[in-house]
Formats: sequence, C-alpha cells, structure tokens
Amino acid sequence: MRVLGIETSCDETSAAVLDGTGDDATLRSLVILSQDVHAIFGGVVPEIASRAHLTAIVPVVERALTEAHADAFDAVAVTNAPGLVGALLVGVSYAKALAFARGVPVIGVHHMEGHLFATALEHRGAVPPFTALLVSGGHTLLLDVEAWGRYRVLGRTRDDAAGEAFDKVAKLLGLPYPGGPHLERLAAASQAGPFRFARPMLRRDQAAGDPDFYDFSFSGLKTAVLNAVRASADLGADRGPIARAFQDALVDTLVEKTTRAVRQFGRTRVVLGGGVAGNASLVAALRERFTSRGVEVFAPSSRLATDNAAMIARAGLFHLERGERSSLDLNAFATQPLPGLVAA
Ligand code: KG4
Ligand code: ZN
Repeated sequence: MRVLGIETSCDETSAAVLDGTGDDATLRSLVILSQDVHAIFGGVVPEIASRAHLTAIVPVVERALTEAHADAFDAVAVTNAPGLVGALLVGVSYAKALAFARGVPVIGVHHMEGHLFATALEHRGAVPPFTALLVSGGHTLLLDVEAWGRYRVLGRTRDDAAGEAFDKVAKLLGLPYPGGPHLERLAAASQAGPFRFARPMLRRDQAAGDPDFYDFSFSGLKTAVLNAVRASADLGADRGPIARAFQDALVDTLVEKTTRAVRQFGRTRVVLGGGVAGNASLVAALRERFTSRGVEVFAPSSRLATDNAAMIARAGLFHLERGERSSLDLNAFATQPLPGLVAA
C-alpha cells in the first residue's frame, strides 16, 4: 500500500510518501519545511503558522510526490490532533480535498502515535513490545507498548514538556529559539562545575503505584535555573556550566523513570521519539544505563525525531491495514487522548 502523509500540527509543513505492508515499510520521500519566521518572536505564533502552512502545503505535497516518482497513492494520512488547531485545519482540509479528488480514503492520525512509529522507519528492531519515551516540545510521555495500537500510559509531565523546558531554559541563557539544540551544544562544551540542580520528581522512596513514580515535572528545574542565572555575578562564564547542570538533571530524570518502566514490564527494548530524542547526551545516557543489561535503545535520527510526515504516513499505514478509515467530516482537535489506550 502507498500512503501519502501530511503533517501541519505546529511549525513544520511536511509531506511524505511511504510504501509498505506491516513493519516492512519503505520511505520514498520526505519533505519538511520548517517555518523559521517564529525565531523572531521567540516562539510559535499560531496565526502565522497557519498562514505559512496554507502557502506551503501545495508545493510541499507536490514535491514529496515528485521525489517519490509517485503519481498515485492508496490513501492520505494526516495529523488531526493534538496541536495548534488553526495549523492542523490546513493539513486536514487539504488532505480531505485531495483524497476526495483522487477517490482514495483519508485517515486522521494522532501526532504522538506518529512519534511512536518514527524510529521503526530507520531501525527494524524498534517494534513492540517496548518501553517508549516520547519527549517533544508539547508532550512528555512514558509508555509501555505491548503491540502497535495497545498503549499503556505510565507517566506524563505535570507541567512543562521536556522540549519546552529546554526551550525556556535556553531563552533564560540568551540562546535563540528553538533552544534545545543550541542548549545541547553549549552543555556539550561545558562541565557543570559548581552548579547542580535537584533531580525533579525523583526520590528513592517512590514505588510503583504512587502517582509520582512515573510522572515528570520540569517547571521547578526551570525556576532553579532562573535563580542561578539571577545569582550569577558573571553569566558569560556561568552560562555553559548552568546549561550542562540543567541538561544533566533533566537527562538523569528521564533515564531513571525509563529504567523503572523497563524493569516493571521486563522489556528488552527502549524506543525514543520526539524532538528531544535528537539529544545525543540523552541517547548516550540511556545506552550507558541499558546496554550492559541487555536492553537495546533505539533513537531516531534528528530528521525523524522532530515533526515530520513520514511518521504520520507510517502510523496511518498501520490503521489503514486494520481497515480503519476517517470520514470526510474528519475534524482537528487541540487535545485528544492517544488511541488504543489500555489500562495502566
Ligand atoms: O517533536 P518536536 O519536533 O515538536 C513537537 O511535537 O513539540 O519537538 C520539538 C522540541 C523543541 O522543544 C526543541 O527545542 C526540542 O524538541 N529539541 C531538542 C533537541 N532537538 C530538538 N531538545 C534538546 N536537545 C536537542 N538536540
Ligand atoms: Zn511532535
């Protein structure tokens, strides 16, 4: 089956063509147009994002089809939740019109389920059962995935998402938006030195069943950074060590909670997804923790870690093969639970 994927949930206009059956899927093309304009404002401006999607959607889809040498496709998969509604509506409207004109089905895809499938496009072993850590700009989710379409949510953030924490701390340190990759570079070139921040929501006395055993919270860490910045007599010299200490605290928390999930469910694979999965320190720390325990860690490349339509096409393929279709009244939603949830 050939699936055209479309993603417009935030500030990337993306289209991809994917051929496949089950876990045997081949990416034929992937076009990602990042809306750099938001850097001027230090964050995504929703109306500007919607208008930029409207301008870009036709050429981005046409280019994905041209690069794949694909005139025809069997279905259109489009992100319809969660995200900025005005941005999602552009992709959903376009996908429905295109599917109608071509006489093929359209399927709405949950953006976070897309992130779950991204790594499988690059690593054949990144298939269920596995423990999943999804760390993006809008979400932080720890999941046990016993099969595609059967997801047990173990933990989520109570305030800022991991990527959001990176972006906010980067801003405090005077780095450009989106700050994650800039902060990672600054941290990599520094030692934490005199700075050390408490690991958020991490205590030894937590036990499975406690609400905070798996959950995350990053706003306190952000405040600790703010206090360190304010107290610094020489921020030029302290920026690097503060960035490093922040990243160390955040990574430690993610590694520890992921370890708890792997242990409880006895999984032998960890699959990462979302923009922060492109962070080399996080991936290295997880590998250091798990390799000697016989647990393999799968991380997507930066291109597939951040928002892209390939992962949407891949998740769409899964649902289409199960016979699922959306109707032409498919709508867009700012929030929506992940499909296929099983009780924790
Ligand atoms: O998954 P994504 O592209 O968009 C959402 O669905 O939110 O994630 C974007 C987020 C941003 O917060 C960005 O700063 C962060 O991922 N990010 C990183 C890195 N690359 C992207 N954070 C830390 N280190 C990175 N290398
Ligand atoms: Zn995303």
